[in-house]
Amino acid sequence: MGVFITFEGCEGSGKSTQLQLLKDYLTKLGVDFIFAREPGGTVISEKIRSIILDKSHAEMSDECEALLYASARAQLLNEVIIPALNAGKMVILDRYVDSSLAYQAYARGLGFDFIAKINDFALNGCPPDLTLFLDISPEDAFKRKGGVDESDRLELQGLNFHTKVYEGYLSLAEKFPSRFVKVDCHGEKLQTHEKIINILKEKGYLR
Ligand code: TMP
Repeated sequence: MGVFITFEGCEGSGKSTQLQLLKDYLTKLGVDFIFAREPGGTVISEKIRSIILDKSHAEMSDECEALLYASARAQLLNEVIIPALNAGKMVILDRYVDSSLAYQAYARGLGFDFIAKINDFALNGCPPDLTLFLDISPEDAFKRKGGVDESDRLELQGLNFHTKVYEGYLSLAEKFPSRFVKVDCHGEKLQTHEKIINILKEKGYLR
């Protein structure tokens, strides 16, 4: 079996930048890895992504949103993640089930048990080996990012919502201490990159 690593964080946490730096690093090392983003990563899951994030879908119910994320994830798992893990590859995901626990369970208020239950059905297990949470508060993140992406329905939710997402992530860190690692990312991007590489080495996933 390969190794399954997920990245989590609030909007503007620098996740995309860190993932790009990591992908470049792994490519240089010659590591056999695959990368995908959530929601997305397959033709079907990318179509679901555009339905979820479309800002003209303001009437979307919280339950519909939660089920769509789980559907996109189920497709990605079956089509991409499981075959890659079975082939012994490293799988790097930009978001996974913890995003649903932070955004839909905590911030939307649907509750941990409900979101865990629909994802248990969608995924039939398959937890990550390691989750790296890029730790920066939404206030600091939006300041650094210079505002919100006006085309993204989730980003438009306001600071109160994103603060709840952040608090959700902090409680997940307490709930899953063995796999959920907080990475302080207030510093320079290369400092954060170095921290990530060191964690992967300490865990034995990189030499
Ligand atoms: P991205 O901006 O990191 O590509 O993620 C898309 C948005 O979807 C982002 O606002 C986080 C949100 N999201 C959820 O609310 N629940 C989920 O399960 C996932 C994967 C993402």
